[in-house]
Amino acid sequence: MMEWTDRHCRFFHRLLTRRAQLYTEMITTGAVLRGDRARLLAFDPAEHPVAAQLGGSDPKALAESARICADFGYDEINLNVGCPSDRVREGRFGACLMAEPALVGECVAAMKAAVRIPVTVKCRIGIDSQDAEASLDTLARMLVTAGVDALIVHARKAWLDGLSPKENRDIPPLDYDRVYRLKRAFPALSIAINGGIASVEHAVTHLAHVDGAMMGRAAYQEPWRLLAVDPLIYGAPAPLPSPKAAIEAFLPYVERELARGTRLHAMTRHILGLFHGVPGARAFRRHIATEAVKTGAGIAVLRGALGHVVDARAELAHIAA
Ligand SMILES: Cc1cc2nc3c(=O)[nH]c(=O)nc-3n(C[C@H](O)[C@H](O)[C@H](O)COP(=O)(O)O)c2cc1C
Repeated sequence: MMEWTDRHCRFFHRLLTRRAQLYTEMITTGAVLRGDRARLLAFDPAEHPVAAQLGGSDPKALAESARICADFGYDEINLNVGCPSDRVREGRFGACLMAEPALVGECVAAMKAAVRIPVTVKCRIGIDSQDAEASLDTLARMLVTAGVDALIVHARKAWLDGLSPKENRDIPPLDYDRVYRLKRAFPALSIAINGGIASVEHAVTHLAHVDGAMMGRAAYQEPWRLLAVDPLIYGAPAPLPSPKAAIEAFLPYVERELARGTRLHAMTRHILGLFHGVPGARAFRRHIATEAVKTGAGIAVLRGALGHVVDARAELAHIAA
């Protein structure tokens, strides 16, 4: 997610779940091909499995970008066919590609020919006045022909006319049944559902109908929820016993990054929701928000913030809830 799932965020999320697939922010082919690649694409080996999400619509540029990402060590290439922003539309990629299924197929075929790692697509159930039944089936058929390895479907139409991208995050309503029907129509295609999944428990209910579930805002805004992913989805123990333990585990990374010149705030902004709903959460957030932005702020800020969160039992009850 743009501005959110940068490498610091992903490193932190990986402490909370060993198994969930993590995704980069959308990176345009222009940025991959002509930008500061080392800065844009670098990630910590601990982040695996991690997918690079590309934005673009030129098969050649996508193939080359996919190859570069694969060489960087990413585990999956994902093509964005769901972003509704104006800037993205002008570049003829993102959600407007829902109207050009043959081109999306060409893009996927070109990327598949360029890399050995899985190539996946994240799309919407439709755009604007598109018939979400026929058009989504058509897109899926073309993607299967192109060799796509999986499809992630945000179960909400993208509205390119008349709604801002922000409004479009909650309007029009979600239609999970449309994604379930797609899975029934394409049983051999791996399909994950996305949109409005508020908890890992909620994600589990989707798995009766589809192969995977992607969490966006809930994972970012309340990262403690990720501690339930390995136990509830994969039947494996949680990597850490509590959100507090996650902060402790994050400290060596934070120290390393501080030494490289990364500002504390660039890392701590991703952990503000870690104690959401438990006693001391507000003081924890406030402490970080005011202290981490100060010049020279170091890990003492994190330790100080942790001191505000007193009730470890409540944290655990929260995870089990
Ligand atoms: C701040 C923000 C940035 C986002 N950036 C991306 C992005 O780069 N690529 C993408 O496929 N979706 C992006 N999305 C959409 C989410 O991936 C997701 O599809 C959407 O928020 C619905 O899922 P959720 O209800 O679990 O958040 C973004 C959403 C938000 C709130």
